Amino acid sequence: TWTMANVVDEQVERIRAQVGGGRALCALSGGVDSAVAAALVQRAIGDRLTCVYVDHGLMREGETEQIERDFVAVTGVDLRVVDAREQFLGALAGVSDPEEKRKIIGREFIRVFEQAALDVVGDAKEHGEKLNFLVQGTLYPDVVESGGGSGTANIKSHHNVGGLPEDLQFTLVEPLRTLFKDEVREVGVQLGLPEAMVWRQPFPGPGLGIRIVGEVTQERLDILRQADAIVRAELTAATLDREIWQCPVVLLADVRSVGVQGDGRTYGHPIVLRPVSSEDAMTADWTRLPYDVLAKISTRITNEVAEVNRVTLDVTSKPPGTIEWE
Ligand code: XMP
Repeated sequence: TWTMANVVDEQVERIRAQVGGGRALCALSGGVDSAVAAALVQRAIGDRLTCVYVDHGLMREGETEQIERDFVAVTGVDLRVVDAREQFLGALAGVSDPEEKRKIIGREFIRVFEQAALDVVGDAKEHGEKLNFLVQGTLYPDVVESGGGSGTANIKSHHNVGGLPEDLQFTLVEPLRTLFKDEVREVGVQLGLPEAMVWRQPFPGPGLGIRIVGEVTQERLDILRQADAIVRAELTAATLDREIWQCPVVLLADVRSVGVQGDGRTYGHPIVLRPVSSEDAMTADWTRLPYDVLAKISTRITNEVAEVNRVTLDVTSKPPGTIEWE
């Protein structure tokens, strides 16, 4: 019979056959796909896999710790965390345009990951070993969409820093190529990955950077992170996680409105809740969350998050709205 336990064994065998005594590199994003792919490869080749996690500072509360601590504890993966928070903030300074933000975040990610890859490959070389495999969490739907091709990848040098070796060339290891998302989650459960990782809802690559309407600053990130953590905690407490496709929490950083708290006037920012129901993110409807859950979220955010004095609910379907605000 075909079970997820069989899938694990089968994939571990395949990875061993492909990589042999070689070494591999994997970029962890915090998402379920790269985590499950890395855990499978770790099971197959152990410490001959090195994972890299670029901490861009745009993750939600607890997510970086989940990777650094929980994921590593469960899998034993050899992980290098690159703290690039300052670099990303610097690159994003003064930028409000959504597409511009996406471009900058994508570009900085490639820069940081490329340097980390060069370091890892260089370290292997020093030990007389070659690292030429790159693990990717490509799923079956991605394979179909792209016409089934691939097999190799180049990390191209995007910056003209002297002394860099030629483009890094890798053979791809894609242990999830035959699986759908729900199967990937089951494999993740099989491998003992943290629940919160296995059941993580979709979260955009540019992270909180595209959930701050306006310029991204450290202070704004801190505000949004606090509000978002409250929303996620309350949705989990109400056991609504698996009913909702995802719930972006957005900070309208350039908007202020008047409020009152204690005996003082406030002039703070609004937070937008964007809970949506969807099958594939192509279309979506706004989720009719219970009023008591909304009330609890609103009370907690306005009480606990300084600078936020209003909580609003987005009741737009997609189309015409998109799921994210940027
Ligand atoms: P929209 O906002 O276009 O989002 O309705 C559809 C789905 O895609 C996610 N999303 C992104 N994912 N990089 C990503 O990796 C991005 O730049 C990005 N923008 C949107 C969004 O969270 C939703 O699941």
